[in-house]
Amino acid sequence: MTSPSSSISLTRYLIEEQRAGRINADLRLLIEVVARACKSISIAVGKGALGGVLGDALSAGEASINVQGEAQKKLDVLSNEILLEANAWGGHLAGLASEEMDTSHPIPDVYPRGNYLLLFDPLDGSSNIDVNISVGTIFSVLRCPDGVTRAQDEHFLQPGSAQVAAGYCTYGPSTMLVLTVGHGTHSFTLDREVGGFVMTTRGMTIPEETREFAVNMSNQRFWEAPMQRYVGDLLAGREGPRGKDFNMRWVASMVADVHRILTRGGIFSYPLDSKCAAKGGKLRLMYEANPMAFLVEQAGGAASTGRERMMDVAPTGLHQRVPVFLGSRREVEAAVEYHRAHDAAA
Ligand code: AHG
Ligand code: MN
Ligand code: MN
Repeated sequence: MTSPSSSISLTRYLIEEQRAGRINADLRLLIEVVARACKSISIAVGKGALGGVLGDALSAGEASINVQGEAQKKLDVLSNEILLEANAWGGHLAGLASEEMDTSHPIPDVYPRGNYLLLFDPLDGSSNIDVNISVGTIFSVLRCPDGVTRAQDEHFLQPGSAQVAAGYCTYGPSTMLVLTVGHGTHSFTLDREVGGFVMTTRGMTIPEETREFAVNMSNQRFWEAPMQRYVGDLLAGREGPRGKDFNMRWVASMVADVHRILTRGGIFSYPLDSKCAAKGGKLRLMYEANPMAFLVEQAGGAASTGRERMMDVAPTGLHQRVPVFLGSRREVEAAVEYHRAHDAAA
């Protein structure tokens, strides 16, 4: 880890990655453009009520509902528009896909097309927007299959292990971009006076062991048996089979919860429950679970559905949902073991 005094801007980091042959110019431009869009979103989020950006999005006087069946906030819609507009004309993308759009979005014919596919959750943690709690943006970058210039939904359906870059931007007390291009996970803090991101941690490392878990406990009675047993044992603390006391945190913004885990360790879980079982889970594979899994693995952690390595899941839909366990490696392995033992006994 290094201190902020090393003063490496995001631009310098990306140029050095390009010189080292780890990314090409198009991927560098793509990440710069996403970072610029995140700065715009950060400004909108930061204005809060003064910017008129809080509250629900309306369409024809009614609450606007996205493909997920969830009511959209004004900032969900605005953030999506900012990311679309920023990425349409640069010539580095073959297509985009977003939580807020039913199908993938082609690059308009008036612009050149490139070789990359960008997927994003424009505003993660929507339920926290109106109460001034951290929200974020999550993104994932894939290569467009050879020979495809006009990307369709099917071309995005690649496993997480095919990602060439992933990251998130958290809009909290400070705005931070956390990024991987497959060579470690690094954090950059927005210098608001200068208007640029500056590297603040090179090589984030998640402690292997933890005493902290993140889960929405109100769903406990809807969980599967192995999850009930796993969390039951965490709660039993020092007197239970795990032999130590655990602390709990739940921000309900995945970006904020994962950021805490990348910084000081922990396990994040949104498991299968009987309310979301028909959909496969709550969180979305392509633009929530996979990019976070890439960042977490690159920081020495692990990410699983409870039964399979997250980045090995073969996707079947743009908005596919999955159960999620990620964070400190040994703790994720422990949670997976509860599922393995349960399935073996069954
Ligand atoms: P989004 O705002 O993009 O729809 O995602 C919200 C997600 C995630 O950020 C968070 O971990 C989870 O939903 C919170 O769910 P609960 O409200 O059920 O706790
Ligand atoms: Mn989200
Ligand atoms: Mn969202």
